Amino acid sequence: MKLDYSLVTRRAFLNTLFGGWLAALAAGSAYALLRFIFPTLGKEPDFVILNKGDFLDIPVNSVKPFAWGGKLGLFFRKDDGATQALKGVCTHMECNITYRPDVKKFYCACHKGWFDENGKNIEGPPPKPLEIFDITIEGDKLIIAKKGVKVELPKA
Ligand code: FES
Repeated sequence: MKLDYSLVTRRAFLNTLFGGWLAALAAGSAYALLRFIFPTLGKEPDFVILNKGDFLDIPVNSVKPFAWGGKLGLFFRKDDGATQALKGVCTHMECNITYRPDVKKFYCACHKGWFDENGKNIEGPPPKPLEIFDITIEGDKLIIAKKGVKVELPKA
């Protein structure tokens, strides 16, 4: 059976097709441009190498941030002087956390999540503890690595 008329004109059909193609091209180009401008966006390294002098002397009961790829890392000196490095990203929905020295806990303001000073989730919606990193000191370098990742610096 042949229809006498169509609900979509040839012009409307071609305009929709061309418009869709143009939108897909623009979205692909924008994504490629963002990846070029922010190459580490969303990527996490296995380790980072920092300057030891910038971190080991921070006061007790304080944190100092570092870049963990495109995410937040926190170098933490506890009250007893022990140090710890952890990912400063909440395990609930990946908001950045802050350290609250008054209560000696890490806090996520997004949904009121709390972690103790060892990174254990103790209150609110976070389902698991914070990710703790290994710390190694080699010469004047502070190497912070994912658990189990062995880092060997080239010999000078
Ligand atoms: S993202 Fe941290 S509590 Fe929800």
